[in-house]
Amino acid sequence: MTKTKLTVRDIRLMKEKGEKITMLTAYDARFASLVDESGIDMVLVGDSLGMVVLGYESTVPVTMEEMLHHARAAKNGVRRAVLIGDLPFLSYQVDVREAIANAGRFLKEAGCDAVKLEGGEEVCATVAAITKAGIPVVGHIGLTPQTAGQLGGYKVQGQELGSAKKMLRDAKALEAAGAFALVLECIPDRLAAAITEAITIPTIGIGAGSACDGQVLVTHDLVGMFEKFVPRFVKQYANLAPQIKEAIAAFRDEVRSGAYPDAAHSFPMQDAVVQRLREES
Ligand code: KIV
Repeated sequence: MTKTKLTVRDIRLMKEKGEKITMLTAYDARFASLVDESGIDMVLVGDSLGMVVLGYESTVPVTMEEMLHHARAAKNGVRRAVLIGDLPFLSYQVDVREAIANAGRFLKEAGCDAVKLEGGEEVCATVAAITKAGIPVVGHIGLTPQTAGQLGGYKVQGQELGSAKKMLRDAKALEAAGAFALVLECIPDRLAAAITEAITIPTIGIGAGSACDGQVLVTHDLVGMFEKFVPRFVKQYANLAPQIKEAIAAFRDEVRSGAYPDAAHSFPMQDAVVQRLREES
């Protein structure tokens, strides 16, 4: 694995070379450095921030300021991976000029390499304008959480012929608009395979089967730190939440019993100094 900084071009070339692409989320410097040092190719500061870190019910309330704050922190942990900032709900839908300005803020104020936004043909003019402004864009179709309400909730998308055909059209349109990669969320594996074959830019799947050119997950899901809801497509490679709670409970008990801090976790003082201190107090 190369230690040099990856670029958007490297990600595109990985598809050509048949190399699988890995992407994970991070919202702070510590997690970003753990992900980056583990050799993950792209770090996404996702608007899943809203649910995973900020405790919101959905991604809808997430603001540009919140995204930039966390993207700046994540940037401090990333050396090698391509860093992507997720444009939050209504930061790119109102008008194209505002979309370019907001996308630009991720590069200028947070040091991101690219941005991601949700939607198909309806956002292609925006994708083209942002790309033309010199900002690399990742598309995102299938289950698009910012508009999950319109899609009937957090459900698999593209199971019927009509919606599958629309998704294929969306993918081709996003490629033509200049997107350099495309997230496919929660769609049948064979539809993802058809899209992956039909376009030259890499597809990054999340709940979209193994034929995609790469895979993305929310890091807190894969390490078992988000217990509220575990989607079918999430594989938990660790189960940290119970371990963290165990450690915290042990701290609580030891403080209450006086077992912590013991001598090994305290700073000693020489007897003579203690004696003088006593005399003077
Ligand atoms: O916000 C996010 O974390 C995402 C990924 C799950 C693709 O959009």
